[in-house]
Amino acid sequence: GRCRKCKKFCRKFECCLEENRGATPSAWTRQQADQIRITSENAAPIIEEPFEDTAPDLWVWDTWPLREKDGSIAVLPGGWRVIFSLTAPRSVLPGKRHDIATIRYFYSRDGQDWIPGGVVFPEGDALGSRQWAGSAFVENGEIFFFYTATGRRNEAQVTYEQRMAFAKGEIFSDLNGVLFNNWEEHSIILVPDGEFYQTQEQSSGGIIYSFRDPWYWIDPESGCEYIIFEGNTATPQQPVERECNPENIGDGDYRSGNDVPNGSANFNGNVGIALLRSSDYREWELLPPILEADCVNQQLERPHIVYIGGRYHLFIVSHQFTFAPGLDGPDGLYGFVANDFRGNYVPLGEGGLVVANPPEEPFQAYSWIVLPDLSTLSFINYYNLDGVSLDQLPSLPDQFVFNRFGGTLAPTLQLSISGTDTQIVNELAQGLVMESSTEGAPFTPRCEQGGKCGN
Ligand code: FRU
Repeated sequence: GRCRKCKKFCRKFECCLEENRGATPSAWTRQQADQIRITSENAAPIIEEPFEDTAPDLWVWDTWPLREKDGSIAVLPGGWRVIFSLTAPRSVLPGKRHDIATIRYFYSRDGQDWIPGGVVFPEGDALGSRQWAGSAFVENGEIFFFYTATGRRNEAQVTYEQRMAFAKGEIFSDLNGVLFNNWEEHSIILVPDGEFYQTQEQSSGGIIYSFRDPWYWIDPESGCEYIIFEGNTATPQQPVERECNPENIGDGDYRSGNDVPNGSANFNGNVGIALLRSSDYREWELLPPILEADCVNQQLERPHIVYIGGRYHLFIVSHQFTFAPGLDGPDGLYGFVANDFRGNYVPLGEGGLVVANPPEEPFQAYSWIVLPDLSTLSFINYYNLDGVSLDQLPSLPDQFVFNRFGGTLAPTLQLSISGTDTQIVNELAQGLVMESSTEGAPFTPRCEQGGKCGN
């Protein structure tokens, strides 16, 4: 059952823990992923040149809007919407940008003409040698900011350790524009536990490691507050013997008719989850994943949830090259739906595929993020490759590569969803973020009264 009104935060935590008791991860099975097809419903229109540069001197990629706590798009005093983007100077080769990513912000009154606001954090404040994707909400003039701290500050060589970090600051917003200031000290809020979520050391064998992209999410039905994120499933026992479990492959008929190719067990992406355990947003408790793609896909990136019609729509982005052997899916947006937050998530669209890059331009966009009105933001990635594979790029002249990377916001796509059917119904302006509210109404968190609080 649901919780009732609470007096103390620790009661809320215990109540929310109870909400998650016994929850097991849903599986994106090989059988389901075998259904992935590019269709006229999910193929994005080809992005035509010329397109606009969101920032002429910067590569702009993963982007997220400033939201209200309930997930709706925030509109600040002065009428401003705000987006945050990973950015790097256009002087570096596109492939190098991840190593020097910096979070900058842009603000706009029409949600389309984005004014550069500069870096979000003063030099030296942020954790990590660079910062990767996250999320942010505003409450009472304060900003609550979650991001991925990648590597360590002042490291001699670029490393790929990923931890999730939090910072809180103040928002100054009026007719003239938007500023962030008075940031409190940043804290690391989540590191992999090695039990549910792989540590970097445990990840050898996997093609890419992840513990990143914290997305703040409040469940409108329970009032419980979570971070969902991109992880890899840990195998705690030693020595590590990875194999594919029947529940990750499919039903009996499918299993008897389909072999699982060697090496598949090294693919173990999941959508991780942590529960808020202190009212200052600095303490979180890791819980078992919501969804796992063991033996299916290595990376379920930038997970986020859209609550519509009383159902939970969970979206991730993934790459062609991160599918396990024997499975094939395009760079795209993938989605799942469940009736309960910790219910059984089943694929939307074709085997999960909701937005595919078109076959003629298989890498034209990436990092889609679905907003409460089902409009979908992404960035322009590699285009006009004419059959050149991404692996070949490093051996080609720099100018060739520079001319084929967008590094700017892509046209926003409007989706519609009915049950598990999805469709791209419209292509809108580049980088358009419309005002949109959620069905998850603002509410007071509820939990049971009385009883003793734990530590
Ligand atoms: C997705 C992604 C994110 C990460 C960022 C790093 O495009 O891989 O998971 O935060 O890019 O640049």
